[in-house]
Amino acid sequence: PTMEKEPELLNILEVDGVPLPVLSKEWWDKICNFQAKPDDLILATYPKSGTHWMQEILDMIQNDGDVEKCKTDHSLHRHPFLELKFPHKEKPDLEIALEMSSPRLIKTHLPSHLIPPSIWKENCKIVYVARNPKDCLVSYYHFQRMASFLPDPQNLEEFYEKFILGKVLYGSWFDHVKGWWAAKDTHRILYLFYEDIKKNPKHEIHKVLEFLEKTLSEDVVNKIVHHTSFDVMKDNPMANHTAVPSHVFNHSISKFMRKGMPGDWKNHFTVA
Ligand code: A3P
Repeated sequence: PTMEKEPELLNILEVDGVPLPVLSKEWWDKICNFQAKPDDLILATYPKSGTHWMQEILDMIQNDGDVEKCKTDHSLHRHPFLELKFPHKEKPDLEIALEMSSPRLIKTHLPSHLIPPSIWKENCKIVYVARNPKDCLVSYYHFQRMASFLPDPQNLEEFYEKFILGKVLYGSWFDHVKGWWAAKDTHRILYLFYEDIKKNPKHEIHKVLEFLEKTLSEDVVNKIVHHTSFDVMKDNPMANHTAVPSHVFNHSISKFMRKGMPGDWKNHFTVA
């Protein structure tokens, strides 16, 4: 099945050649002028790299492993995206971020060179998650099929061409991961990989704890590993995005929590 798209919901603003889903030039200026606070924690990713997985891990860490505190709202509402405005939300996420109490956890898909300067100036800690581009591409393709406010990806062949050329929202995967990789040499960035988290979640969670200068007991760490595993998250209505109205995310076309594993590209790509 294909989804009825709502093109009027899709605002694309090209900034430095990068297509961004930003409301308008005026909103872009507001995003650039975002005033960060030193205790803001930023979660940066290229789309479909495990953003909401890491969000759940960070939320569990910030709440000392208290699952109930991580179920106060569903993940799209629990922490804002710096640059997005979702069709089912009254206001842009930026406004929600400005109203939030500290310490704030803020998500972004922006490439490093488009990050609001105050985030660098305030030396905010940033967690970046990168994912194998082939899996990222397949995940992005299915996501664009099920999200009403994203362009129709048509078929995988066409989407592949666009992805390779960086003609998709947030631009080139290659530029994104390389830009953030370079930025980590001069900023407080923890650079993680989706595949590593999958292989050894506990080990990667310990890296996050060290980065956040936090200690938690092994019991709590084990609890975080469990609560943020794919199988548990996919059945958690506060994490699996089923609470998002179906005219925005149509889970009958493709689930948000789709496969959650490395290597699904092998089911989509030809050997060549
Ligand atoms: P797939 O479409 O390959 O299944 P993002 O949050 O950046 O949009 O990324 C979504 C991708 O992360 C989806 O990939 C989703 O299934 C996967 N994901 C979400 N939670 C996960 C988890 N706990 N473990 C592994 N993958 C997860």
